[in-house]
Amino acid sequence: MNNQGWLRRRQIAVAGGINSAFPVFVDRAEGNWVVDVEGHRYLDFIGGIGVQSLGHNRPEIVSAIQDALDGIIHTSFHTVMYPRYVEVSEQLAALVPGPWEKQVAFFNSGAEAVENALKIARQYTGKPGIISFNQGFHGRTYGALSATDKTNPYKVGFGPFIPDVYRVPSAYCYRCPVAVNRATCQIECLDMVQSVITEEIGADQVAALIIEPEQGEGGFIPMPGEFLRGLRHFCTQHQILFIADEIQAGLGRTGKMWSIEHSGVAPDLLVTAKALGGGLPLSAVVGRRDILAGMAPGSIGSTYGGNPVALAAAKVVLNLMAQEDIPGQAAQMGNWLRSRALEWQAQYPQIGDVRGLGAMIGLEFVHPGNLEPDRATCQAVIQAAFHRGLLLTKAGLADNVIRLLPPLTISRADAEDGMNRLESAINDVLVR
Ligand SMILES: Cc1ncc(COP(=O)(O)O)c(C=O)c1O
Repeated sequence: MNNQGWLRRRQIAVAGGINSAFPVFVDRAEGNWVVDVEGHRYLDFIGGIGVQSLGHNRPEIVSAIQDALDGIIHTSFHTVMYPRYVEVSEQLAALVPGPWEKQVAFFNSGAEAVENALKIARQYTGKPGIISFNQGFHGRTYGALSATDKTNPYKVGFGPFIPDVYRVPSAYCYRCPVAVNRATCQIECLDMVQSVITEEIGADQVAALIIEPEQGEGGFIPMPGEFLRGLRHFCTQHQILFIADEIQAGLGRTGKMWSIEHSGVAPDLLVTAKALGGGLPLSAVVGRRDILAGMAPGSIGSTYGGNPVALAAAKVVLNLMAQEDIPGQAAQMGNWLRSRALEWQAQYPQIGDVRGLGAMIGLEFVHPGNLEPDRATCQAVIQAAFHRGLLLTKAGLADNVIRLLPPLTISRADAEDGMNRLESAINDVLVR
């Protein structure tokens, strides 16, 4: 059956709230490419939304999954245990920054890990308040959604949300929340955040703050190191837990294993997912042992969390990250991607900002006169790229940012091929 045929069946059978960006059905995927049911090949700069950091169907991951299937598919770690849960916990604990001992709990999706991190923080501190940031995205379950900024379409009609979640400005330098000039910036936004928390919310009422060191869905916005270090200091002063949401930015994408490492900050809790399972659903909370060790058995968990097959994939993902220096590859490739995007920015005033750490690069489209977000141009470029066989996705509260999410292992030839297709799409849309 062709794409049209599947599309007709999809429209009848699949819930309307489930979105799909492109009208194609994929038949198979390999490396940097996916192939649809009609045999069209697409260079994939979305990677299952930042999941396929090692490319599609990496042979080592596929064979680890196949071997795992011959052993255990599922028992639930909450009943009879399996060694892999312990092994991957040890691997992850050793990778996360912080001078303290760490423990790990596994879940299935990013939102579920966020949800648990928030619960853990409330129980440990005995305080209710959660601070999240403008442009932040943490998932679609109630706790995670309450901490998420973007209203449309994620939150419309789904309220009320969980209480005591407060959103404060982030350090979105291109659209500075305190309108200071970058050249003279003293991170005034940090003062503003601190005074909102102390004066309006009450620091003694706050359990945790949750932040993406480089915001993902919000528009690929890296938080400056001074901002994160200032928040860390504030958290320590007020017994507030610092939660780093590394679900999109972690595992090498920003040129370091974790995006928080660019700032030198050690988080109390870190949440990870996406690339961790090599394409299988797996997420984790990694945190200070003194926080996690004292929790009552059974107070957190899930039937499938830390599924043995997903953990077999994760073990290989984490090994390959180290063996092949995936963060280093991302840093190198990112430099090259950024230099291409900066050339386009110099040429077109519609590309207002090119930003991001390592290979986590976003291009923000604006109306040149007033720098207001230009969603239509961004969408047109994504569509033009699609017609050239390149898959790209958007980000930003106004959907006006193109985010580049190629595999971190992409060859230079395919990276060039992708950027040439994108350049041709931009030329086509912006010169018209
Ligand atoms: C930073 C961040 N946190 C949380 C989530 C939610 O993850 P999931 O979609 O696996 O629930 C996402 C998903 O895009 C994310 O980017």
